[in-house]
Amino acid sequence: MLIRHPLDIPPSEITDPARYAARRKFIQTLLLAGGAGALGVARGNPPAATPGASLGKLQSSPFSLTDDKATPFKSVTSYGNFYEFGPDKESPARHAHRLRTRPWSITVDGEVKTAKTFAIEDILNWAPLEERIYRMRCVEGWSAVIPWVGFPFSELLKRVEPTGNARFVEFWSLADPEQMPFVRLPLLDWPYVEALRLDEARHPLTILAVGMYGETMPKQNGAPLRLVIPWKYGFKGAKSIVRIRFVEKQPATAWTKAGPDEYGFYSNVNPDVPHKRWSQSHERRLGEFFKRKTLPFNGYAEQVAGLYAGMDLRKYF
Ligand code: MTE
Repeated sequence: MLIRHPLDIPPSEITDPARYAARRKFIQTLLLAGGAGALGVARGNPPAATPGASLGKLQSSPFSLTDDKATPFKSVTSYGNFYEFGPDKESPARHAHRLRTRPWSITVDGEVKTAKTFAIEDILNWAPLEERIYRMRCVEGWSAVIPWVGFPFSELLKRVEPTGNARFVEFWSLADPEQMPFVRLPLLDWPYVEALRLDEARHPLTILAVGMYGETMPKQNGAPLRLVIPWKYGFKGAKSIVRIRFVEKQPATAWTKAGPDEYGFYSNVNPDVPHKRWSQSHERRLGEFFKRKTLPFNGYAEQVAGLYAGMDLRKYF
């Protein structure tokens, strides 16, 4: 990635996690008060047009497989990558206010029986929204624990019928130079396109996220809808998605085109395969000073290693 210092995250970015802790406590209290019935809420999720709006009651998820403390909201929203708004880590927070998230629709096409376009308002009502607390790891060596809000990608598969030829899924981000000034520069081959193998996409850990920390998605983090795959380096998670295309052959992606020997198609978090320019053995959580060891598949090996049985993950990195 076009970076200067992979782990250059000043500890001064640490902010008080009280805001998130208070909201989480509130949600837990609600769930306790309502007992098991409260877990099945959320038929008819709120319209949530404004980034930062509360998403109401959320379904808790058995896929929150970590007890690690959530990274402060401020760190996750002020430091990140969204090249359409500039290549610096602070650029997305500075420029993403230009993104218009309504009206918004997502076209699903390619190897499907019938191509369809869905309005974001409909998508928000596909399934009860879940909170999924995931460890995330960027290829650059920083990591975070993020309480995402979303639903499994498989919800989309219930609404479109992929043909027998569909083996991969592409995720296309918006590329509008009027809203996204850096799309005018050849930083990447726009639009930003990422892709998964179909079995990776339908794995229960893969979600389409519409929010985080109990609120609608901040623009700099990929409003109104983005992909989240916790066992892969963060760049696989395309933001502000406008098109999902099912294809037969493994597609080229924005990053495999930018640096095929640095960013492989699979991009599974693998501490044993160094990036061409730096080690991947350790990571630093946003807001923390000391590095910690990076785990294979970012700690999700038990859930996902079977997807890659028999593959040489040094070759297919
Ligand atoms: N999606 C788009 N459209 N454009 C981008 O530049 N950057 C990727 C990914 N998705 C990117 C993107 C990279 S490199 C990372 S690490 C994550 O978004 C960062 O997401 P976050 O800032 O929300 O943590």
